Amino acid sequence: MIEGVFNGETLTLGIESTCDETGAALVAGKTKLIANVVATSMDQYARYGGIIPEIASRAHLESFLPVVTSALEQAGVKLEDIDRIGVSGGPGLIGSLAVGIAGAKALALALHKPLYGVNHVIGHLAVDQLASEEMLKLPAVGLVVSGGHTNLLYIEDFAAPGGIRELGGTLDDASGEAFDKVGRILGLPYPGGPNVDRMSQQGTLGAIDFPRGLSGAKYAKSHPYDFSFSGLKTAVARYIASLEASPEARSHPEFTEDYQATRQGKPWLPVADICKGFSESINDSLVSKTLKALQDTGAKTLVVGGGYSANSRLRSWLAEACPEIGVTLRIPPLKFCTDNGAQIAAITAEIADRLEPSRPDFSPVSALDLTRVMV
Ligand code: KG4
Ligand code: ZN
Repeated sequence: MIEGVFNGETLTLGIESTCDETGAALVAGKTKLIANVVATSMDQYARYGGIIPEIASRAHLESFLPVVTSALEQAGVKLEDIDRIGVSGGPGLIGSLAVGIAGAKALALALHKPLYGVNHVIGHLAVDQLASEEMLKLPAVGLVVSGGHTNLLYIEDFAAPGGIRELGGTLDDASGEAFDKVGRILGLPYPGGPNVDRMSQQGTLGAIDFPRGLSGAKYAKSHPYDFSFSGLKTAVARYIASLEASPEARSHPEFTEDYQATRQGKPWLPVADICKGFSESINDSLVSKTLKALQDTGAKTLVVGGGYSANSRLRSWLAEACPEIGVTLRIPPLKFCTDNGAQIAAITAEIADRLEPSRPDFSPVSALDLTRVMV
């Protein structure tokens, strides 16, 4: 055991397996990350253009032991040194969750340690406490942005009943999902999100404008903190179709029947400007509704989490806007934005002193409510 790094502090093992990443991490106390190991099966989905749950479950099965073992090695601890175990209980793919939970239950039973089935999405927010080794100042507004979620939360207390309230969320696509879909329409490599973000950085602001969903006075009362991105996705598809119908496109030698698969690089299609306009619309909705939530609740902390929090425009926009209204922005570094065991260890360490462990027969909950910190 490494002397002096976590002397006398509780040691939490966090295990993650909601989607395509298998993660294990060790946290001392509530804020000291001492090991973090992630294996991903993402490369296996490039040829399908989306995750295949059965492949993901098998990959978790193969990675579980190597990932946990290498986290222990990285920290220089033995299994017996662990005080408690946290595992993703949901939301996520049911088969993937089941593999992680089965492994975590086996470890907990063999070691006689308490096991907590925790909310993976709340973990995306709590992980910032490890990144900065500083506790979040509550109450806070939480912006959850991932492949499956886009929600605004009001967090007074992670562990207390009613301590997490949902202010609003997307009525259709999540922000990451919308980016992935537009990436697919444009023929960009999987996963679309980071690639659309990269292309958008080469585009010109204002060259193409797309509508903002649920914005304007009409929705200010009925949907103050909600989002809608499916209309935007349709607007992008229509815009592309209109360009493809133009005489310039139709008469071009590269306008072949199967060009849809490789749309980028075509002279009639300004991919960077399309990505820019699309990205600006999504981020404008995210930022304006988040700032409204901060103003309305009076919270002085904004914490952002989920894979989409890697988005360059969202990060720069919030970094500029938050100080102007006296709000502290907590947004994890990029390496903590995608799924990892650290987020599970972080939320487990945060709540375990105050909540009972999960029952030994608990099951994964694929659509776990965001206001529930445990399954
Ligand atoms: O939280 P996460 O790792 O998995 C879920 O729990 O859903 O989020 C993954 C999502 C994907 O949709 C991915 O395309 C998106 O986050 N994403 C991005 C960026 N990096 C990841 N979307 C936009 N811009 C990015 N830079
Ligand atoms: Zn996630």
